[in-house]
Amino acid sequence: MSRLAGKVALITGASSGLGRVGAERFAAEGARVVVADITDGDEVIDAIAAAGGEASFVACDVTNPESVENAVNFAVETYGGLHVLYNNAGVMLGDDDNPVTTSVETYQRTMDINVLGTMLGCKYAIPAMQQSGSGSIVNVASFVAHMGAATPQIAYTASKGAVLAMTREIATIYARQGIRCNALCPGPIMTPLLAKFLSDDAKRNRRLVHIPMGRFGEPIEIANGALFLASDESSWMTGQSLIIDGGITAAYVTPE
Ligand SMILES: NC(=O)c1ccc[n+]([C@@H]2O[C@H](COP(=O)([O-])OP(=O)(O)OC[C@H]3O[C@@H](n4cnc5c(N)ncnc54)[C@H](O)[C@@H]3O)[C@@H](O)[C@H]2O)c1
Repeated sequence: MSRLAGKVALITGASSGLGRVGAERFAAEGARVVVADITDGDEVIDAIAAAGGEASFVACDVTNPESVENAVNFAVETYGGLHVLYNNAGVMLGDDDNPVTTSVETYQRTMDINVLGTMLGCKYAIPAMQQSGSGSIVNVASFVAHMGAATPQIAYTASKGAVLAMTREIATIYARQGIRCNALCPGPIMTPLLAKFLSDDAKRNRRLVHIPMGRFGEPIEIANGALFLASDESSWMTGQSLIIDGGITAAYVTPE
C-alpha cells in the first residue's frame, strides 16, 4: 500500500536539493505533488512522470503572500484538495556570519524566506486542509535550531529557531482539528545550499569532525523523514522536532 495514497502534497523549494528528492519520494508513495518554487520545476515534474507519478509545477515566491495563496489555490484546483504542506524552501546566504559582520539586509532576507515563507505557507494551506478534513505540515528547520556553532550563520540559525518555535505553536492551535505540524531538523546534507557554504576541504573537514557517523547525510535520508511526518504513520505526533543528523546533537565528543 502506498504510504501517501490519496494525499495532495504541496512542497515549496522543490525544484532542487532536498525538496526535489522529497517530491520524487512523495510521488513514488502515491501523493499527487505540487512543486512550488521560484526556479523552473520542469526537470522534477518530468522525472516524476517518467517514474509513473503525478506532479505539477507552480511558480511561487514564498515571501509573497499572493504568490503563496496562488500556489495553494492551484493545488486545490488541480487535485481537489490539500493534505500535506512541506515547507522546505529556505536559504543560507553567502555573507551570513557572526552578529557583528552580518548585514541587516542579509538578516532580513533570510528571515523573509525562511520564517515569513513558512508562516505564509501555513496561513494559506491551513484553511485548505480544514476543507479537506485533515492535514500534516512539515516545516524544515535544522539541527542549528538546537545547537550553536563556532562557524556561525547567525541569521540562518535564528530563522531556524523561529521555525521550530512556530511549529510547536501551530501544532497546539490545530491539534483538535486533525491538522498536525512537525519540524524536520536535518544535519548537513550535500545539496547546492551546503556545497556553496562548505566550499573547500578545510571547511568540510571542520564540519565532519562533529558528525559521529563521520559523513554528510544524503537527501533521501531527509526525504524519508519527511515522508514519515507527512503520512498517517505519524498520526499521534505533533509539535515535535525530528532530528536527522548522523548523531551530531547526541554527541559531546565524537569518535576519532
Ligand atoms: N542542505 C543542508 O545541509 C540542510 C541542512 C538543514 C536544513 N536544510 C534546509 O532544507 C531546506 C532545503 O535546503 P536545500 O539544501 O535543498 O537547498 P537548495 O538551495 O538546494 O534548494 C532550495 C530551493 O528553494 C528554492 N527557493 C529559494 N528561495 C525561494 C523562494 N523565495 N520561494 C520559493 N522557493 C525558493 C530554490 O529555488 C531551491 O530550489 C532549506 O529550508 C534548508 O534551510 C538544509
